[in-house]
Amino acid sequence: MSAIRYELDSDQILTLTIDMPGQSANTLNAAFREGLSETAVKVKSDLDNIRGVIIASAKKTFFAGGDLKELHKVTREEAKTFEDTVNGLKADMRFLETSGKPVVAAINGTALGGGLEIALACHHRVAIDDDSIQLGLPEVTLGLLPGGGGTQRLPRMIGLEAAFPFLMEGKKVNPKAALKAGIVDELANSADDMIAKARAFIDANPKCQQPWDQKGFKFPGGAPHHPAMAQKLAIAPAMLKQKTKGCYPAPERILCAAVEGAQVDFDNGSLIETRYFAELVTGQVAKNMTGAFWFQLNAIKAGGSRPDGVGKETFRKVGVLGAGMMGAGIAYSTATRGIDVVLKDVSLENAEKGKSYSEKLLARKVSRGRMTEEQKAKILGRIKATESADDLEGCDLVIEAVFEDSELKARVTREAEPKLVANGIFASNTSTIPITQLAGASRKPENFIGLHFFSPVDRMQLVEIIVGEQTANETLARAFDYVQQIGKIPVVVNDSRGFFTSRVFGTFVNEGIGMLGEGIHPSSIENAALLAGMPVGPLAISDEVSMTLIQHIRNQSKKDTEAAGGTWNAHPAEAVIDTMVYEHGRKGKAAGAGFYDYPANGKKHLWPELEALFVDAQKARNIRLQELKDRILFIQAIETVRCLEEGVLRTVEDANIGSIFGIGYAPWTGGTLQFINQYGVRAFTERATELARAYGERFAPPRLLLERAESNSPLA
Ligand code: NAI
Repeated sequence: MSAIRYELDSDQILTLTIDMPGQSANTLNAAFREGLSETAVKVKSDLDNIRGVIIASAKKTFFAGGDLKELHKVTREEAKTFEDTVNGLKADMRFLETSGKPVVAAINGTALGGGLEIALACHHRVAIDDDSIQLGLPEVTLGLLPGGGGTQRLPRMIGLEAAFPFLMEGKKVNPKAALKAGIVDELANSADDMIAKARAFIDANPKCQQPWDQKGFKFPGGAPHHPAMAQKLAIAPAMLKQKTKGCYPAPERILCAAVEGAQVDFDNGSLIETRYFAELVTGQVAKNMTGAFWFQLNAIKAGGSRPDGVGKETFRKVGVLGAGMMGAGIAYSTATRGIDVVLKDVSLENAEKGKSYSEKLLARKVSRGRMTEEQKAKILGRIKATESADDLEGCDLVIEAVFEDSELKARVTREAEPKLVANGIFASNTSTIPITQLAGASRKPENFIGLHFFSPVDRMQLVEIIVGEQTANETLARAFDYVQQIGKIPVVVNDSRGFFTSRVFGTFVNEGIGMLGEGIHPSSIENAALLAGMPVGPLAISDEVSMTLIQHIRNQSKKDTEAAGGTWNAHPAEAVIDTMVYEHGRKGKAAGAGFYDYPANGKKHLWPELEALFVDAQKARNIRLQELKDRILFIQAIETVRCLEEGVLRTVEDANIGSIFGIGYAPWTGGTLQFINQYGVRAFTERATELARAYGERFAPPRLLLERAESNSPLA
């Protein structure tokens, strides 16, 4: 069965319906290419009998885009063959585009990537006016570029500048916005209306040619040599570099393909695009990003870490204890997904204050036209602010987010548990206290679990689920269901101090602060982190977290380690933090002073005194940037291996996704473990050994890594 149905009707209108056999969505793979090339041959022979062509889809969506399984496998050695294949496909699309007959895309559903590119190759696009339909070119988010003509056609349709957010940021729009942007030409109110409009276009335009194939074509918004455009393009690469820090080749190559392609005719532009496409597809960053943001994320969403054999649960009523920063965010994220929330604090006033956080976020949505007043009122109506534990009666789940204090947490656990439905679950949002220890206060430790949210909860997508020693598989499965029900990404880890994300995050912060202690200039440290791909420098983030909190966590860990008979290996960062807090009273951002100064009417900047206090002029001069970048990326990757080795982490997917979405570990790497795999496990181990010699045992490769290094086999 061909991927494309060919139906030429008595009206001489040819409908090409894309319907890939055995797939729920259409994708651009070998079967599609074959179908398209057969179709092109048939159209050629029927051309005299065809008045026009409608390209439609038999699926719920129009077309999902490139087949990532196929793209992920292409190696550098196969680059030439890959280019030929891509150019072959593009030639078939181009044949339809230049046949002289009107070709219309009937966009019945979401069209992304290669799907939208097929539509762009048509002379006219009619889309059903349904806000759930998405149109866009998201390739860049996976380290790729739209290689099916997107970087050439879209700028020629709407201008370079207007095309950049779609091409370089992967912006997606609904049909209304697409019409406004000039990406679609007409909206339809039903499938029949869409086809009627497509036919009407064909009737009205018996001969069709794309604007860029017509003589005297003028590039909308100006071609690159137009003075105003030339001026903008001269600074575009620098502005882009400021965003990518040189870590992301895709947006840079997209800019090249679009601008270079705009200076030649369409066909040569298309060849330029293919070259850059092949470079990205076979490059390491696309492999890392596609691996993490597509395959691994999908594996997690499909329930890879959810125990089998437990029926899926739908949560109806959730209690949140503590209406502070975290509790208020959890309440918001839960209520917006249609779940009733009881938000309890010590006083009604506190609880109402926590609820007002939701009010504020929702009001912003209303003012931006993303929500109606009724929808807002409905969501707020789901949150009951209270000071009484009795209101928790009938909750399926209670999450505590009270102060980080074991005794208080024990007290609220005992108070809330009896109110749960039979077999309800109780979760703690603690960031540091072991779940097994907290479960000691529970009547049903098998129903006790950790749900570690990240701040700000409404924006952070990750939830780290922590399985205590006695937590039942059923409890884990149900907690997983709750996290998915509120639209967040669950990663599952076993209990240990700091769990996974906080442990790894701690190594990042300590490494940066330790560098300062060695005499390295603070600007070099912050910049090295940003250039390595971290979203924020270690000194800036320490200020955000507050140095007193870092001290508190460290002291607790030290106490526990020593109580368990272990020895505490002091990190060089500790002395720096103590100096900052005890000698200079600089506790962090909330206190108004930390590694940075926070002027009332200006931008924050590094505290100038840091230089006199810590910087060693000679060391600061001789430091190599790569060395700092390596230390920042390596220390987090090594700690992740330790978590894997100790059984804190259960899967490589959870490690990679958890590190990117929880800590902000450089997304170009594909996550902490993928960083090692792509570096080469043996090469990584050798470099780690060098770093250990220079900076201390914390860089020493763990046993698991040494074993893998022998065979140079990836962590999988
Ligand atoms: P917060 O200080 O903003 O809020 C705590 C709230 O708990 C306060 O409103 C307090 O009145 C309330 N509370 C105290 N005793 C109570 C009781 N008996 N019943 C009900 N409410 C009570 O603290 P935050 O930052 O929201 O943290 C809460 C928990 O979440 C802590 O365990 C913290 O370690 C954890 N966490 C914090 C993160 C952060 O970034 N702040 C990240 C992840 C977890």
